[in-house]
Amino acid sequence: MIANAEIKIEKIAHSRVNEYDVNNVPFGKCFSDHMFIAEYSDGKWGNATIMPYQNVPMSYAMSALHYGQAIFEGMKAYKNADGEVNIFRPIENFKRINKSAIRMAMPEIPEEIFMGGLTELLKLDSAWIPTSDSGSLYIRPFLIATDEAIGVKASETYKFIIITCPAGKYYSEPIKVLIETNFFRAVEGGVGFVKAAGNYGRSLYPTKLAQQKGYQQVIWTDGKTHSYLEESGTMNLMFVLDNTVVTPALSDTILAGITRNSVLALAKDWGMNVEERKISITEIIEAHAKGTLKEAFGVGTAATIAQIIVIGYEGKDYALPPVEGRQFSNKIDDTLRNIRKGKTADKFNWMYPVK
Ligand SMILES: Cc1ncc(COP(=O)(O)O)c(C=O)c1O
Repeated sequence: MIANAEIKIEKIAHSRVNEYDVNNVPFGKCFSDHMFIAEYSDGKWGNATIMPYQNVPMSYAMSALHYGQAIFEGMKAYKNADGEVNIFRPIENFKRINKSAIRMAMPEIPEEIFMGGLTELLKLDSAWIPTSDSGSLYIRPFLIATDEAIGVKASETYKFIIITCPAGKYYSEPIKVLIETNFFRAVEGGVGFVKAAGNYGRSLYPTKLAQQKGYQQVIWTDGKTHSYLEESGTMNLMFVLDNTVVTPALSDTILAGITRNSVLALAKDWGMNVEERKISITEIIEAHAKGTLKEAFGVGTAATIAQIIVIGYEGKDYALPPVEGRQFSNKIDDTLRNIRKGKTADKFNWMYPVK
């Protein structure tokens, strides 16, 4: 762990926390007092600093803006009843951002910078962590290319930054999703398996079209045959077919979600049948007709468990069973919340204490 002395800390003169009701703010709109920055140049990391949250002066020629060398992560910190702060599985986010860095020809972030910066930042800004049942502090680490240069090549300088914001529910209601077969999120050999900023930019237009039709999100299908389900928005997909939990198998077109991994671990621990495999559109439509499609939901850090109530496909809406009766996803939702809030034993050691 990076020692305190290696991170320069510039504290804010007056906290802004009392200007907000942190238990009741819109997702991603209000940012905590401090941010962490580390810089990469001449082949090494340095200048690790915590400073008041602020705009950073940068050149309009900055290469991240033009050529998309920009990657990010998303994770959450929680406060338990004793006021202790714990982060949900941050080491997994640390590993994943470095996977993204390698694929995008960016430098890997040392663990002491990632975890040291994160820990010190949360110690300073713990007053921003909501205490409500569904509240958490959303943490956004990101790495951007900062060369002031026009010309397509890997940047030689980078900034790694962590900002945080109090968060409540991402979706307040169960969602309607549209199976998308014209536009694709990712193709084999591409960057779908990493959290590259461009993956999200390219998703916005198809999502906008779906929203104009009354859906909240699209379900992406594979870019080759357009017939297998992949994921949805910022969530992995799960179904309960009869009594089996089924989810698309990971590939280089799907982000390996940490929530997905946690849900599967719990399902296996509860003795459920779990299948990670290809799921075709036809299989889901047929399961719906037969009545074996019991549950459908998205899983992700921001959305947590997002219940899917309607699946749209080729002009038809397929209504799913009511959310109240969904035994598996409701139990998962409760269990994850209780683990995160310290109300249930953390048998997998998922919670990382901030001390
Ligand atoms: C495209 C995509 N899929 C899935 C997920 C879910 O991943 P996680 O559970 O690690 O948040 C996310 C969110 O990070 C995402 O952006």
